[in-house]
Amino acid sequence: MSEADRIFDELGNTLSRWGLSEIPFTESATFLRQSQLRDVFTGRTQELRDVLALFQGRDRKRIFVYGWAGIGKSAFILEILGVLQRKAKDTLATYISLPPETDLATASLIALAREMEDDEWAQHQLNLMGLRPRKRVVQKKGRGKAGISSFGIEAEQETVPVSALQVPTLSFEDLLERALEKYSRVVIAIDDLDKQDPARVRELLRNAQGMLKGGAWFMLTGHPSGLTRDILTRDLGLFDLSIELKPLDQPTTYRMLVNYLNSARPKNARRDPDDPAAVRPFTPEAAQVLCQRSDGVPRLLNRLGSYVLLKAAHLHADLITLDVLEQGLIYAEQQLRGQAGLAPEDYYVLDLVLERGTLSDATVTLVDLERLKAQEFSEILPILEKLVQFDLLRRLPSERAAEFQPTPLLMPKPSRKQTDNPD
Ligand SMILES: Nc1ncnc2c1ncn2[C@@H]1O[C@H](COP(=O)(O)OP(=O)(O)OP(=O)(O)O)[C@@H](O)[C@H]1O
Ligand SMILES: [Mg+2]
Repeated sequence: MSEADRIFDELGNTLSRWGLSEIPFTESATFLRQSQLRDVFTGRTQELRDVLALFQGRDRKRIFVYGWAGIGKSAFILEILGVLQRKAKDTLATYISLPPETDLATASLIALAREMEDDEWAQHQLNLMGLRPRKRVVQKKGRGKAGISSFGIEAEQETVPVSALQVPTLSFEDLLERALEKYSRVVIAIDDLDKQDPARVRELLRNAQGMLKGGAWFMLTGHPSGLTRDILTRDLGLFDLSIELKPLDQPTTYRMLVNYLNSARPKNARRDPDDPAAVRPFTPEAAQVLCQRSDGVPRLLNRLGSYVLLKAAHLHADLITLDVLEQGLIYAEQQLRGQAGLAPEDYYVLDLVLERGTLSDATVTLVDLERLKAQEFSEILPILEKLVQFDLLRRLPSERAAEFQPTPLLMPKPSRKQTDNPD
């Protein structure tokens, strides 16, 4: 057996000693299968109520879901779409993460066409854009040798050069009309508006007003930057309901941890959240500390959880006690700081925020900027945003200018704490 085989088996054995089939944590909700999301999705009861109530009515609605990175926007809309797919048979629920350089009509068209597998025209539209049709219109049949067509394989691998749609809004409306012949409701969820430049998103929304107010339901997501304030105030009327996802409270976070762990246990071994063994291999105390550390942000719980389990496996720990947890948290910090894709200038900025505790246009000094070879705070904003995406910083939910703080995954610098508090 090779060393790699041995390590692989050892990890598997440790997990099965803990009663888990795999490490259940993930960074993004889009990595989860629908059944997995259903197992782990926790809380958000009022928000679900608010949105699902709208689906009892006939009028189509536009819903905006917003919240900070990793708070659970994708999970929330995917959970809603899952319920609709399971329970509302007359509804066609579609999802797309907004691709770069794409307008909202084209994105909507792609989302819809992908779900209309049996509609040749829809599949043709995808093909026109250079996207792979969901289902081959013609099934491979017969035993023809390569290149020699037998029954009906002519159309199979035909590809057409990528071309942008001439009038995406009209193409979308045509397709929507076709969809509405079969379904009484079509829902288009467009995720990740915030992953693009705010000015561009504003323009996208402006250009899409007509479509958004047309015959489909829309669910859009973004984060509460200047963009959201604009949408909520200036562009009021564009959305019927705006929902802010806030950090989860401690008991809900704990229940979420139980749900994740249960999702990797055999069905008959799943435990009730009140059972202290529900958080195994964590001890209840360690589980509580882990939840506090995650600060109610689901992605932080997922990232920390997975690093801590890996470290505990490495230590051959049967139980994750407070002591093992501490080592896991140190390991998590090392891993987070060592993520691929971070450049030296990112670390300069990160270290500055760690030194300061909070950094904003108001608190940055000329000396700081000089150190970072920048003239204005706005020049380091892209780096700060990048560090947010890497879960190293978070943007404070302030109405004022952008303010950044280290995430609770990073330990406060001990030396600084000591000097800050001489007593
Ligand atoms: N209510 C929830 N219950 C259980 N898990 C959740 C919940 N909300 C989010 N998660 C999990 O937390 C992680 C981050 O969630 P998600 O991907 O939805 O965040 P996001 O707000 O869309 O982040 P981003 O801003 O990067 O798009 C995922 O693994 C997701 O499954
Ligand atoms: Mg998301």
